[in-house]
Amino acid sequence: MKKPVAADGHDVAEAWEEFVQTQVYPEPGAKAKEDYRNYDSPARDSVRRFYEENHRKQTYDFVLGKRAEFLGLDRRQMSVFEACDFLNTLVDDSDPDIELDQLQHLLQTSEAIRADGHEDWFVLVGLLHDLGKVLCLYGEPQWCVVGDTFPVGCQHSERIVYPEFFSQNPDSRDPRYNTRLGVYREGCGLRNVLMSWGHDEYLYHVMKDYLPEPALYMIRYHSFYAWHREGEYDHLCDEHDREMLSWVQKFNPYDLYSKSPQPPDWNQLRPYYSDLVAKYLPAAIAF
Ligand SMILES: [Fe+2]
Ligand SMILES: [Fe+2]
Repeated sequence: MKKPVAADGHDVAEAWEEFVQTQVYPEPGAKAKEDYRNYDSPARDSVRRFYEENHRKQTYDFVLGKRAEFLGLDRRQMSVFEACDFLNTLVDDSDPDIELDQLQHLLQTSEAIRADGHEDWFVLVGLLHDLGKVLCLYGEPQWCVVGDTFPVGCQHSERIVYPEFFSQNPDSRDPRYNTRLGVYREGCGLRNVLMSWGHDEYLYHVMKDYLPEPALYMIRYHSFYAWHREGEYDHLCDEHDREMLSWVQKFNPYDLYSKSPQPPDWNQLRPYYSDLVAKYLPAAIAF
């Protein structure tokens, strides 16, 4: 299968996901493979370059620009299954082993949630949560599609991965944006906070009319590791965010650790997911 765009993008996204799973947030009981801050490890160069670019370029103005560019949702009307197929064109044709890889990650996540007996909308989040990566197929570079997300317009937390790269971000020298609260009010609620641009925020806007609130939080903040894993940015949260946090935390292990040795069979599962998708979502969704 030919990738239309983002020639090296898939490799970096894969490398980033593996990096988070094995080095930053290893499975409970497992030890991180090595200290990711060890700059002598050349194997991690692509991930480090990815973070450097992300942390340098995700400014408040950049995010405003991307929101204006994409949140009109006027690019395509697609069903969930068309979006899955579309996303699968991201597959790297240099590596035959990762055919259908994007869809596999979604299915492994949703099947693990289903196996634990959770509500059907939670299972649906598993299937949907990374569909925002279709941004790559609009030609967007990886550093503004994947990776962990963080608020812009205020001081960057030291608990974000590779915080040292924020010194290259012009906002970190701008007095409007480099204080603890920046442009925000104490306890203003995350809905009033601009997050760095990526697949999470984009998909939240695509799905926001259709899913229950906890599902929307899982989609919108699943890459906001500084919040849901590190406990940072509570000063921007309100009580509603704090209530929803436990749902985001419940989702995260399924996203990170659900790789099953037996890959789910899409053809066999498709009837179940067709019904589930039809229960919550219209046949055509604006992306
Ligand atoms: Fe994601
Ligand atoms: Fe994911």
